[in-house]
Amino acid sequence: MIRLGCKAVAASVMEEIRKETEIFTSEGNRAPSLAVVLVGHDGASETYVRKKAEAAAELGFLHFQYSLDEDTAESDLLSLIDELNGRDDIDGILVQLPLPRQINERKVIERISPEKDVDGFSPVNAGRLMTGEECFIPCTPEGIMRILSYYHIETAGRKAVVIGRSNIVGKPMAMLLMQKGIDATVTVCNTKTPDLREYTLGADIIIVATGKPGTIDSSFVKDGAVVIDVGMNRIPDSTKEKGFRLTGDADYASFKDRDVSITPVPGGVGLMTVSMLMANTLQAAKRRAGV
Ligand code: GUN
Repeated sequence: MIRLGCKAVAASVMEEIRKETEIFTSEGNRAPSLAVVLVGHDGASETYVRKKAEAAAELGFLHFQYSLDEDTAESDLLSLIDELNGRDDIDGILVQLPLPRQINERKVIERISPEKDVDGFSPVNAGRLMTGEECFIPCTPEGIMRILSYYHIETAGRKAVVIGRSNIVGKPMAMLLMQKGIDATVTVCNTKTPDLREYTLGADIIIVATGKPGTIDSSFVKDGAVVIDVGMNRIPDSTKEKGFRLTGDADYASFKDRDVSITPVPGGVGLMTVSMLMANTLQAAKRRAGV
């Protein structure tokens, strides 16, 4: 097994952003600026939002955090987004998902100005990704493309299987892999696909993003294949300080003696998401400044 650790990949992205930001601000532009909105107290969301704040601080980005109550009304959140859309001192807006039940997620995402939608979740950015125009690309799939490139994993003419069809990972991932210049042949499966092995055993690259531990193990994967594990599952574990351990969607241990390259969890894809968000925020700032 080859472990595709992502610490160095994320660090290389951060270094690139740091250099680009230095040039951008030395030309008289203010530092890129990100607004992060968190509604409620979901434990994982609080962790992600904290990591985003730390990365922004590390790069000298301006960072505004809005922590709203669990019972916030949808109309209040929409008003806040309207305010952030109109502010000149904010380049990027991110509303951490999932949102509490009383709030319609699509309505919120659609309210974010496409020029500030650094998550790339708005219909305009999703549409532009599909048609191959310049857009904000969702951070996790964009980060996975960086992992493939960092490890010189060939995509052209290779068979890629994406397991999962979410708007955040599966669908944009498939779009990226099939785009011109990347040129993979892409199959998109989901948890209801009757015989997953029928697809995965033929795959050169498998992206597993179901949010279900044990979705695949080594019996699903041929020799020489690459597995990218997007899962970030919290399994209760009283021996851990936090009371849980993190595990991916693939059964990592089962690959131990196989000729397979695989991203670990933690230490894999999750590290990329935050740095790609910073890359998108810098991109938003540059576009606003007309650079
Ligand atoms: N929740 C899980 N992943 C993400 C993400 O990439 N962006 C936002 N806004 N929420 C998420």
